[in-house]
Amino acid sequence: MSVRIEDIVNKASLQKEDIVRLLRSKAEEARVIYEKAGQVKEEYVGKKTYFRGLLEFSNICAKNCFYCGIRRQNGNTVRYFMTDNEILEQVKYAIDNRFASVVLQSGERTDRRFTTRVTSLLEKISALAEGKEIGVTLSMGEQSRETFEEWFRAGANRYLIRIEASNKELYEKLHPSDAVHDYDKRLQAVKLLQDIGYQTGTGVMIGLPFQTYEDLADDLLFMKKHDIDMVGMGPYIEHKDTPLYKYRHLLPSKRERFELSLKMVAILRIMMKDLNIAATTAMQTLDPVGREKALKVGANVIMPNLTPVKYREGYLLYEDKPCLDEEVEECRSCLEARIAMAGDEIGYDELGTSRHYHQRMNKKN
Ligand code: 5AD
Ligand code: SF4
Ligand code: FES
Repeated sequence: MSVRIEDIVNKASLQKEDIVRLLRSKAEEARVIYEKAGQVKEEYVGKKTYFRGLLEFSNICAKNCFYCGIRRQNGNTVRYFMTDNEILEQVKYAIDNRFASVVLQSGERTDRRFTTRVTSLLEKISALAEGKEIGVTLSMGEQSRETFEEWFRAGANRYLIRIEASNKELYEKLHPSDAVHDYDKRLQAVKLLQDIGYQTGTGVMIGLPFQTYEDLADDLLFMKKHDIDMVGMGPYIEHKDTPLYKYRHLLPSKRERFELSLKMVAILRIMMKDLNIAATTAMQTLDPVGREKALKVGANVIMPNLTPVKYREGYLLYEDKPCLDEEVEECRSCLEARIAMAGDEIGYDELGTSRHYHQRMNKKN
């Protein structure tokens, strides 16, 4: 006899086979998952969405991930590095607009020139905040403990580093086999960040070639096992200048990838009630109202793009990334309207620290 979806979503703890069953659910059944996830969100984190202003300040990357449009070997990308003043101007915009939090993202580099530049930038950002507490999230990949610590001291307090695929074998299919694309080092970086005291975020891509439902269930269990504070995950979207493009015939349809991503968000909210989950841009790429849908089923963070329009073309990790020509102000008001449409309120002036982080730190002390 088949188990009812209602019974699964109400279980105290979801096992791998439960998650796989939920991921395989048909549209009618998925509605039950979405409804439950919406209730959990309302009960545990409230009907509130936090803004994190996203600055993609450089697309220079030392890595060669097989899926990514700005990988080092893609010669069709024009490389850029925003000036400190350009970056600070956008951070100021975020502060003036009461975002209370920014995310600095770039390609992955570990050279000293880069790491010290980030440190000095963080110091300038702290000065700019004039004593006002702001969330500063970094998303710059794997670094040494010393660098993570240096950045933490300079004012960074949150870090996003996606594990991309928690299954090591799958991870290895998506990356070159060399010392800079090492699954164990990536996992180690997650642990280092948590140990240093960062609010730590991770995430995966959904609907990748070679990926199974079991892999996706393991991804969610990975987040739970590692006590993750924030998650950003979204559909994999092909890019023609990348090695993975040749496997596009193996991909689920864009609609399926989107639905699967939505289910992942909803199931994660049911499993980990108090963490922050982003409604990612990639979800909007596959569905015009993808981010609103994600907010309705459990996401509570949105990252308005603060990258100046002239650089956006340079940061195409995947095809059809939205908002290439929309100025920062347009995206902000667009997202405001979208959040209202999803029935949420915006957490202006609030740090929106992951509740899970407080729980985790209390456990530690
Ligand atoms: N499709 C979807 N997401 C991608 N990323 C990189 N390339 C792609 C792609 N083709 C994601 C990775 C990375 C984040 C910055 O962007 O998960 O961690
Ligand atoms: Fe570089 Fe990140 Fe793209 Fe990999 S996913 S190539 S590390 S920007
Ligand atoms: Fe950029 Fe809607 S988010 S225009």
